[in-house]
Amino acid sequence: MAFDIDMIKGVYAKMAERVDKAREVTGKPLTLSEKILYSHLWDGNPTKAFTRAKDYVDFAPDRIACQDATAQMALLQFMQAGKPQVAVPTTVHCDHLIQAKSGAAADLKSANSTSAEVFDFLESVSNKYGIGFWKPGAGIIHQVVLENYAFPGGMMIGTDSHTVNAGGLGMVAIGVGGADAVDVMAGMAWELKFPKLIGVKLTGNISGWTSAKDVILKVAGILTVKGGTGAIIEYFGEGAKNLSCTGKGTICNMGAEVGATTSTFGYDDSMERYLRATDRSDIADEANKVREYLTADPEVYDNPDNYFDELIEINLDELRPHLNGPFTPDLATPVGELGVKARENNWPINVDWGLIGSCTNSSYEDLTRAASIAKQAITKNIKPKSDFGINPGSEQIRFTAERDGLLQIFEDLGATVFTNACGPCIGQWDRSDMKGDEKNTIVHSFNRNFSKRADGNPNTHAFVGSPEMVAAIAISGKLDFDPMNDTLINEDGEEVMLDEPMGIELPVKGFEVEDAGYLAPREDGSSVDVKVAKDSERLQLLEPFEPITPDELQGVKLLIKAFGKCTTDHISMAGPWLRFRGHLDNIANNTLIGAVNAYNKKTNFVKSQLTGEYGGVPDVQRTYKAKGIKTIVVGDHNYGEGSSREHAAMQPRFLGVAAVLVKSFARIHETNLKKQGMLGLTFANEKDYDLIQEDDTFNFVDIADFAPDKQLTIEVVHGDGSKDSIKANHTYNAAQIGWFNEGSALNVIKRENAA
Ligand code: F3S
Repeated sequence: MAFDIDMIKGVYAKMAERVDKAREVTGKPLTLSEKILYSHLWDGNPTKAFTRAKDYVDFAPDRIACQDATAQMALLQFMQAGKPQVAVPTTVHCDHLIQAKSGAAADLKSANSTSAEVFDFLESVSNKYGIGFWKPGAGIIHQVVLENYAFPGGMMIGTDSHTVNAGGLGMVAIGVGGADAVDVMAGMAWELKFPKLIGVKLTGNISGWTSAKDVILKVAGILTVKGGTGAIIEYFGEGAKNLSCTGKGTICNMGAEVGATTSTFGYDDSMERYLRATDRSDIADEANKVREYLTADPEVYDNPDNYFDELIEINLDELRPHLNGPFTPDLATPVGELGVKARENNWPINVDWGLIGSCTNSSYEDLTRAASIAKQAITKNIKPKSDFGINPGSEQIRFTAERDGLLQIFEDLGATVFTNACGPCIGQWDRSDMKGDEKNTIVHSFNRNFSKRADGNPNTHAFVGSPEMVAAIAISGKLDFDPMNDTLINEDGEEVMLDEPMGIELPVKGFEVEDAGYLAPREDGSSVDVKVAKDSERLQLLEPFEPITPDELQGVKLLIKAFGKCTTDHISMAGPWLRFRGHLDNIANNTLIGAVNAYNKKTNFVKSQLTGEYGGVPDVQRTYKAKGIKTIVVGDHNYGEGSSREHAAMQPRFLGVAAVLVKSFARIHETNLKKQGMLGLTFANEKDYDLIQEDDTFNFVDIADFAPDKQLTIEVVHGDGSKDSIKANHTYNAAQIGWFNEGSALNVIKRENAA
């Protein structure tokens, strides 16, 4: 389990030299983000200044982390690469496949039985290829990474969009698709467009009911779900230094909700305290030796306007607690104003559940702050009006919180303590209190609140807040409750107020755990047998994709024109479908079933141009596939936002979709389409989206000349025979066009390995 201190010493040794060189070639002071990026260049010392938002750059990440849902496909792909061991330290974390229902013990037992085949596969494949394995129940990937592997100034990638959580410990940590992780596991460079930089200056101090979570809820309201696209958000200022390390993690975690590449903070005393508390004093000692390299140059923070592409300033003294939602994490409303808004919009005021946990807010400090509110319900004799569910972030936190009596406080309120896992945050929630699709409200301390995400019910209005605010609202049972001003009536009929939350940053008696849930891999795993049953429903060995030929790109049929938001959840739904994440054919049966058809505003109801009949998207697509006809998906802005799952690209690819043409992409999804050898294109003229009709056929007239920085021309033939010629932009560089030409990035890796 231990991190590799020699590896970290190596990173720091290179950092000083490379940062000095980068300062020389760029001719300016450097932000922290630039220091980390330039010191992780694949080619070693920097030789040129990169242009933000333009240059594609090869990097050498220090670590990789994968969660169980995405690891299946990533490792199935890695097995195809023909390598004996992973080239970079890698861990697998079993956290997504555990359903929350009755409580930790029963739920874990049930998951270990229903997903035994998948856990056994992940354990054996980890053992074989030198990957550290965190068992089901060990904790949520990002909390476990923060506790064990994150280090200031490091760079990591992870097959989960909230990998960015490790920015709380001063990393550049980025969520990627499994295909990107496979490149790095196979010893290849990892490519990223050099990001823009958004600076967030925090002044003042957090106090009272306001928490670190409210910083990012506020930032989400300012930037919206796409405002951070292509950018690293770098937080600085006195206010930043005064936040705890796990609070910084919360802020970085939800950077994913504004589309940011990642977020980070400069190394400071809070990080040092956290490193020492989590038994990593040797990292703190090393970090202290290179402190000036682990934060921006002083000139940057003195004149931030000169060094960031965008600057936001937040005075923490004035920041109020927020609840964001429903249905989108950027709909930010200060607590106290929510009642009016809820009534205007007809959102249910009664709150049925308060859920505390997820990778966003499950630290020891989070649990203490929420427990300090929960305890008042007991001492002030207030009967909680909502149900409570708690997901501790890791076994280390759970064990310590149990030892310190925190979990007992929640249990005294009737809370269910679920497994140390994602649970309701990813739709793994067997919710017993709702029978059908009833309209209802829940509050949670998670990061995402898209429709259906927590419980599969499109009418569940989910609001995101800090754990302590979730506790207060759940106790009151009312969305319009403002604990700073409102009173509650207790069981004695008295009016009482909740006092401000009290948190403990790090456990006074230290962290403790009996079995953290880690399995180290064998030194030599060559004799380990990885078994995938031929008739398995859950796992399927992969076949390489054939290249899409220019001929196949003539006569391409429209599969669906998606209307409005189309996230990776809409393209490849989670919840019950998680069980098929390792079986491409089976999971393809959920392809785009959540996308809204622009012509009838229905989901999973599209016209087949072969029969004129309407049917489910996967069914219609399979009929095109059977006839060898390629199709296209058309979409709106920020298509593919949400998560890093490459299934959202692999499934359409597997079913025969050749191209996705949209107004704009979420970064990770666009890369995933490229990796799978598909065309990911954007309208040169956004208005051309309106030209696309239900019976359209597409001819990619100049695809044979596909080249970097060159628009593609598409002839759109409408049902009545009339035609439009439209231009499409793309961001493929020469190597990525190679992936397209060879069928996938993996095909290129395999050929290069064999050479
Ligand atoms: Fe898990 Fe939700 Fe985080 S799914 S990794 S707890 S965003």
